[in-house]
Amino acid sequence: MTDSYAATQERMPELERRIIDDPGSFRVLTGERPTGSLHLGHHFGTIRERVRLQALGVETFIILADYQVITDRDTAANVADHVRGAVLDYLAAGLDPERTTIFTHSAVPALNQLLLPFLSLVSEAELHRNPTVKAEHAASGRALSGLLLTYPVHQAADILFCKGNLVPVGKDNLPHVEITRTIARRFNERYGEVFPEPEAMVTETPEIPGLDGRKMSKSYGNAIALSMSEDETADAVRRTVTDSDRVITYDPEGRPGVSGLLSTAALCTGSTPEAVAERLGDAGSGALKAFTTDAVNAFLSGHRARRAELAADPGLVDRVLREGNVRANAIAEATLAEVRDHMGMGYANG
Ligand code: TRP
Repeated sequence: MTDSYAATQERMPELERRIIDDPGSFRVLTGERPTGSLHLGHHFGTIRERVRLQALGVETFIILADYQVITDRDTAANVADHVRGAVLDYLAAGLDPERTTIFTHSAVPALNQLLLPFLSLVSEAELHRNPTVKAEHAASGRALSGLLLTYPVHQAADILFCKGNLVPVGKDNLPHVEITRTIARRFNERYGEVFPEPEAMVTETPEIPGLDGRKMSKSYGNAIALSMSEDETADAVRRTVTDSDRVITYDPEGRPGVSGLLSTAALCTGSTPEAVAERLGDAGSGALKAFTTDAVNAFLSGHRARRAELAADPGLVDRVLREGNVRANAIAEATLAEVRDHMGMGYANG
């Protein structure tokens, strides 16, 4: 997995040139599981990148993969709140629903139906080998469900339903893009050319450290949600475990809490963790926490103000999703018709 990450990173400058040369030749499909609130890690890792691609004129589709919520847990509790919250964060961050199609997995039946032919193109052994499936299974502490085992195949359907050819993802989703390419190739070989072989795209800041120095993740309780109030932000920062050494240094191994705060403050002020540490000198962790809180709150103030304004329009999120789902359905139905045609099932297109 690390190797393919390094290889993907190496391809980025050349890919970037092709995007800038001809943004119209790319269609981006990316997204996330609505399992919680979007946080700073999402902002720096993916949302900022989507806004940039949109500005370059690349057509973008964002899937809120609600069915994927139940890959590693057996309840979809609060999924509607998380979907709504994510849409508000996208809009507040500058994604324009006229140009960027935002839709939900469960609302696009034809996309889901692609799973059947796609499943026939992979072996059980290939699915069991997927490192992300293995890791998520181990972390879940549950029996491996059929849905988690086939996670990479439904992700292939998410990408290929719209013939997405560019897939911005985090490191742990790279194996899914690999299997998507395999599925596209095997389908084309067996039934004739229908699908592109999508390319993965990774951003420069692939893993944002959380407040405690581990990867920022809602499940670690070390995340600052984009939607938090200033006081909630201060509380989250205050809860970070630091140490009593008054000299602030950037030492991710030895001082994960201090270093997580430094990274967060640095990202939000456009600086480096070392420079922030130097500036704080021997001021102690109280000063570090105050500095970090102010940095985050200043950085997010515009986002939070826009978000509150958007949230005050009660029908907005529903409208955005309804329009996104209509567009996604039209494309999915056209692709499914093409798939059936190629498979000799044109009679099903009636
Ligand atoms: N699996 C992604 C995650 O872990 C979410 C996702 C679903 C996705 N379908 C996708 C990402 C298609 C990129 C492309 O959050």
